[in-house]
Amino acid sequence: SKEKQRAQEQYDDYVAEQKERGAMKHLTDTERHDVLQIKDDWPGHSLDLFTYPEHYHEDMESVYIPHGVIMNRIERLAHYVKDDFGDDGIMVLCVLKGGYKFCSDLVEFIKVLGRNSNKYTETRVEFIRLKSYLNDQSTEDLHIIGSRDLSFLRGKSVLIVEAIVDTGKTMKALLQHVGTFEPKMVKVAGLLVKRVPNMAQHLTDYVGFEIPNRFVVGYALDYNEYFRDLNHICVISKTGKMKYKI
Ligand code: HPA
Ligand code: MG
Repeated sequence: SKEKQRAQEQYDDYVAEQKERGAMKHLTDTERHDVLQIKDDWPGHSLDLFTYPEHYHEDMESVYIPHGVIMNRIERLAHYVKDDFGDDGIMVLCVLKGGYKFCSDLVEFIKVLGRNSNKYTETRVEFIRLKSYLNDQSTEDLHIIGSRDLSFLRGKSVLIVEAIVDTGKTMKALLQHVGTFEPKMVKVAGLLVKRVPNMAQHLTDYVGFEIPNRFVVGYALDYNEYFRDLNHICVISKTGKMKYKI
């Protein structure tokens, strides 16, 4: 429609202007899937600067990524997703348990974008549960321990939402599994991608933060089921590691 075209032109002008000023570098098709890199020597913020549940007082070293920053970054990812999926409905496949907060907030931001542009995207969320970690170590075997029949994915545009991607072993297995249902397209959103040897950056279409290879908790990420109730992403302390070890 004319109105849509005018809006697009306005937007293009806006982007061109911003780019000229050196801002918004990443809004073109080829550039936009930018990655926010957290450097190896980033120690995190002092705990004293933020609020957090008192029961974790001794169990954390620092606030690695504050909740507000996580939220702003997810809002940005929602734009990328919306652009890529266009008018297609999105079959969201949330990888539990760690992905539940990311998934919930991402879907919410996608819905807000729809409301604001009067172009609602249909979203449907399904859950899949995988387990491969004990303490802070990855174990060899991957279990898909909770999943209903995924045959409704056939011909649909699928967004896999996962909290952490490191070597990508889990993600590869999951992609293979999802692929058997012959979806139209599959994209992967990873809130965190870890810099490990053979890192799986290429598997992840939407990366929230690229982080060093260290164990983090909070924002639904756990250490033996603890810390999921923490809003920030934090670095666990020695005390915390000992206290909740099994
Ligand atoms: N934290 C919590 N769970 C995880 C991590 C992590 O850093 N890596 C893989 N699973
Ligand atoms: Mg876990």
